[in-house]
Amino acid sequence: MKLAVVSVVVLLVILVAWPVSAGKKDLPEVGGYGGEEEEDDTNSWFPLDNLLSLSYYDKICPNFEKIVDTKVREWTKRDSTLGPALLRLVFHDCGVTGCDASVLLDHEGSERKSPASKTLRGFELIEDIKSEMEKSCKGLVSCADILIAASRDATYQLGGPYWPNAYGRRDSKNSYARDVEKVPSGRRDVTGLLETFQSYGLNILDLVVLSGAHTIGKANCGTIQSRLYNFNATHGTDPAIDTKLADYLRRKCRWDSETVDLDVVTPVTFDNQYYVNLQKHMGVLTTDQELVKDPRTAPLVKAFAEQPPQMFKQQFAVSMAKLVNVGVITGEDRDGEIRRVCSKPNSKSY
Ligand SMILES: *[C@@H]1O[C@H](CO)[C@@H](O)[C@H](O)[C@H]1NC(C)=O
Repeated sequence: MKLAVVSVVVLLVILVAWPVSAGKKDLPEVGGYGGEEEEDDTNSWFPLDNLLSLSYYDKICPNFEKIVDTKVREWTKRDSTLGPALLRLVFHDCGVTGCDASVLLDHEGSERKSPASKTLRGFELIEDIKSEMEKSCKGLVSCADILIAASRDATYQLGGPYWPNAYGRRDSKNSYARDVEKVPSGRRDVTGLLETFQSYGLNILDLVVLSGAHTIGKANCGTIQSRLYNFNATHGTDPAIDTKLADYLRRKCRWDSETVDLDVVTPVTFDNQYYVNLQKHMGVLTTDQELVKDPRTAPLVKAFAEQPPQMFKQQFAVSMAKLVNVGVITGEDRDGEIRRVCSKPNSKSY
């Protein structure tokens, strides 16, 4: 256990350390991160290359991790479904224009208003953490960083792995519903999913491992209706699904708006049961079941099903650490800000 954690840390350090040494850019513009305070000497504490850093908040907001962890505990105690919801929120944020909190903006035509975002949850929790953060670290902590930290804490609290996050993300200034189409939906095949993942710099292992988040996830019944009732001309139900599971799902899913656990055996435990299920034709979504059909992913599914859960958890931490670096705004390429409120950009009045 200890050894496993250590090796994850080593892998992570390799993963997150490379951009820091990969060519220091010019000094970033001073200010512009939302702090109007005069003579603000926190500027000098910002990493000079303005890229993500493991120690980003150590000096400018030392209680950052503690505030997030406490709030997440508080909220998930009242509603245990928030943990998986946060993880899903991260996938939807990072999967659309990168991990820039664009999914949190709430205005006409934003990602959040897209039909695919309809069932996303956890916004109030993030907003609550943000307002707490503004009390002790005003104008210094981005909503993007809060979302990344909160989902990691929630995963850990559900028995998942822990991994150190690098911080320093800035928030996007805009968000467009049309960008949401890029997020893989439950009906895509492995090739489609893999293309999406590769466009983010993630590989086939990351695809199989991050799909493992379904060990604690839920799906809306609407997503699997066609799999249960009108699969194709010869089969009403997808023949790739275990018959008992199909019966169960038909009973659970009388209405599109109902939800069903994606790991029907251990739905609230972060373990490798999801892969064991896949091996037994008990994957709920088409994309889940596709992972055992496709020769590129099947051996990985088999490995995670047969190895101790720790192996999956360890790799999950590594793949998450890669995912949360996707398309981050660090002040070099795209223009970002530290939002005052997570649902609104600072300048526009929606
Ligand atoms: C329906 O799906 C099954 C299983 O994938 C396949 O064997 C069959 O040929 C399909 N039928 C049609 C008409 O596409």
